Amino acid sequence: MLIFTMNNFTIRTIAMPDIADLTEIILETYAATPYATTFNKKPELMQLNLLLSTKVSLANSNHIIDLVGLENGVVVGECEAVLNENCVVIGIIIKSSCRKKGYGTMLLKACIDLSKKLFNCKICAMISEKNIAGISFFKKNGFVVKNSSSKNGNSSEKVLEMTLS
Ligand SMILES: CC(C)(COP(=O)(O)OP(=O)(O)OC[C@H]1O[C@@H](n2cnc3c(N)ncnc32)[C@H](O)[C@@H]1OP(=O)(O)O)[C@@H](O)C(=O)NCCC(=O)NCCS
Repeated sequence: MLIFTMNNFTIRTIAMPDIADLTEIILETYAATPYATTFNKKPELMQLNLLLSTKVSLANSNHIIDLVGLENGVVVGECEAVLNENCVVIGIIIKSSCRKKGYGTMLLKACIDLSKKLFNCKICAMISEKNIAGISFFKKNGFVVKNSSSKNGNSSEKVLEMTLS
């Protein structure tokens, strides 16, 4: 489903053909900044394939929104909103060569707008304290730090819970 289009940037619901591009984006991000992903070790191709195809099949369900952003028809990022018990958790990733062009902000705003329409719940994001760009990005988009906890019991890395104020 087409959600938004402006100049050469388009936002639509995730689809099966996006899996190869998203796999590449996740792997390059993991290689450069593992703390900016949800993976504790380098994900296997099979694991990513399964994860992404599950997202595609759930994307129109009543608890997940999953959008991709395309520059000139090529997938350059993804934003998901997953309804949990306490809040809608947002995750976002943009291809490194396409960052700082406002794409992340447009994708996040589209995902938040849909989340507000579909889920009557607070909106949050879980960000590693090491993820300076991610923290700055969410703050710029109206999120504030609510909590800090240890990542998977590893006390050396804290995860910040940021909520949309
Ligand atoms: C966070 C992320 C999605 C931002 O995407 P983006 O397309 O670059 O974001 P935008 O261009 O819309 O917004 C730029 C804002 O993000 C922040 N930002 C982006 N890159 C940054 C960097 N390298 N250092 C500091 N702040 C940064 C700043 O607040 C910036 O605003 P500014 O240009 O006025 O300084 C992108 O950096 C990314 O994919 N990171 C890896 C995955 C990740 O960390 N996701 C968040 C956790 S779920």
